[in-house]
Amino acid sequence: MLLSGDLADHATDEEYEQVRDLLAPLGAPLYVLPGNHDDRCALHSHFGVPGRDGEPVQYSVDLGPLRLVVLDTTRPGEDPGALDRDRLGWLDSELAAAPGAPTLIAMHHPPLLTGMAPWDDLGLPDADRRDLGEVVERHPQVRRLVAGHFHRTITGELAGRGVLTVPSTYVQARLEFTLQKIELTADLPGFAVHTVVDGELVTHIEPVH
Ligand SMILES: [Fe+2]
Repeated sequence: MLLSGDLADHATDEEYEQVRDLLAPLGAPLYVLPGNHDDRCALHSHFGVPGRDGEPVQYSVDLGPLRLVVLDTTRPGEDPGALDRDRLGWLDSELAAAPGAPTLIAMHHPPLLTGMAPWDDLGLPDADRRDLGEVVERHPQVRRLVAGHFHRTITGELAGRGVLTVPSTYVQARLEFTLQKIELTADLPGFAVHTVVDGELVTHIEPVH
C-alpha cells in the first residue's frame, strides 16, 4: 500500500498512531512518503522510513513486476513543493541502477499544472518540474509518476511519461479554472489500484461509496 503523503494534518504522534491503527487490519506492507502536512522525523519514527535527521525521505522497493521509487518533494514548513539537485541526483543514480525494471515514481507534489492557479501555486516550481523531466527522460523504464496533494484525479505528462494524481481519501478539489482560492467538496473519496498486465502498468481509480 502506497500512501502518497499528508497522512496527518498536524503531524502529531496521535495522528500517525491513528493512521497505523486504521491500516493495520489490511495487513499490507506500507510505503509512505511525506506531504506538506507531514513531518519527516515523525514518518521515520512511526513508519521506519529513511530520513532520521529530517533528511528527505527517499527509497526504492522491488515489488516483483514493478519497482517503486519514492521521491520527497516537500519543503519543510511550507506548502509548495521543491526538488533540489541532491534529490534529483539521487533519483538519477537510483534509476540508473535498475534500467530493466518497470518503475513507478511516487511523490507528494505532482509534476504537472492543473490550470487552477491556487492549486498550481502549491505545486512544484516550473524549474524543478523541468529538471525532474530531464532525469526521467534518461530512463525509459519509468512507466508513470504518481502523486497526491491536489485532492483530485488528474492525468498529464512529463518527458513522455504519464503523470497521475490520485483522489484524496478525504475531501476532493472542486474543478473550476477561475478559482481565486482552493475549494474542497464532499465528492466521493477514492484511491488508485496499480497492476501490471502483460508487462505494462495499468491504473484503476476506485471510488469509495
Ligand atoms: Fe499536500
